[in-house]
Amino acid sequence: MSKKRRSVVRRSNEPQNIGSPLTTPLSSSVVYTYSDVDQLKAVYEKQAEGFTYARYGNPNAAVLADKISWMEDAQGGVMTASGMSALSAVFMGILDAGDRIASATQLYGQSLKMTSQILPRLGFKNTLFDASDPDTFTDAIQANTKIILAEIVSNPMLRVTDFPALTKVAKDVGALLVIDNTFTTPTGFNPLDHGADMVMHSVTKMLSGHSDLTLGYIGTNNQDLLDKLDETVSTLGLNASPYNCWLAERGLHTFDLRLKQAQDNAGRLSRLLSEHPKVSAVHYPGLSTHPDHTLAKELLNGGFGTMVSFVLKGGYENLNTFLKAAENIPYGPTLGDVATMMIVPAVSSHRELDRSERLKLGIEDNLIRVSVGIESFEIIRDDFLEALDAA
Ligand SMILES: Cc1ncc(COP(=O)(O)O)c(C=O)c1O
Repeated sequence: MSKKRRSVVRRSNEPQNIGSPLTTPLSSSVVYTYSDVDQLKAVYEKQAEGFTYARYGNPNAAVLADKISWMEDAQGGVMTASGMSALSAVFMGILDAGDRIASATQLYGQSLKMTSQILPRLGFKNTLFDASDPDTFTDAIQANTKIILAEIVSNPMLRVTDFPALTKVAKDVGALLVIDNTFTTPTGFNPLDHGADMVMHSVTKMLSGHSDLTLGYIGTNNQDLLDKLDETVSTLGLNASPYNCWLAERGLHTFDLRLKQAQDNAGRLSRLLSEHPKVSAVHYPGLSTHPDHTLAKELLNGGFGTMVSFVLKGGYENLNTFLKAAENIPYGPTLGDVATMMIVPAVSSHRELDRSERLKLGIEDNLIRVSVGIESFEIIRDDFLEALDAA
């Protein structure tokens, strides 16, 4: 091209390269260009592989969705901007006017808000069931229930869903079972292999692992559902950013190692806390005292997860004394970070519930949920013992 016809404003061609990049390149372009109308038409009509506009998908999201789908034994999946947008895509993409939903009482607080406040405001009636008590399933899940939402291991009480009983009721009434597998991870349980219709993750947490992005994922083995989810994500603008997907892929490479170490630490911490005189209760499915220990042993592939909840003796003041004394363990509302973190569900994830409703779920004022990290256990042990001494 003559110098006269060039402009720094115009894009350049990518440099020729007979090699292939080892790591997935970050593809931040919002738009993809084509040399003629037929090419673009073929991509829109799915006759040719390609990307068009970032709201419809991007290469980094496709790579990441493929990896998580492989981990979850899903035929395919879509990435979304956050775990909550993944749930939004499920409900907005699948419900029709007049449909009912059923959801577990022990969901992540904002998921519970979505099913029991936001969706009912839009006309979708929600009924609640206790996922670890099958006696509550048949009343809540009826012939016109379209979607059921549950987690395998609940937050923050770490109760385990009676999955075989729940899938049976879902199949009997023809409802779609959606499992939020964030806490359990694909290593702990693969819901699609056991009868769930969709599996969802807040990739923000353990899968990406470094608390530096928000992302969600929904996977399924049903092509019709996958098409609906895909269409909903792009139409409602729930799409994932390429940068976050690129970062999350990097985090995912070490997921197995992180999970192994954090899970081992969690088991040891649960035993340490169980024996401590300043602790009145410890909730961890790996403990033989946990009400769902036997079910957890059957379902969870030999692991019991990375989350431990415990009740600190004393009042609210003592809670603050403990948290201040545990100065090396960040107190903040997330989980699944590489490092150990704590939250108090009563003032973060479950703050929007009435106190009486919260207590009914077992979430006491002084309940502390620990997301156990991959530090050496000795460091975690010393931090907890020191803070408990001060409390
Ligand atoms: C179990 C569970 N599901 C869903 C979410 C929502 O995910 P996000 O924060 O990525 O929207 C969270 C967030 O904490 C969670 O813990």
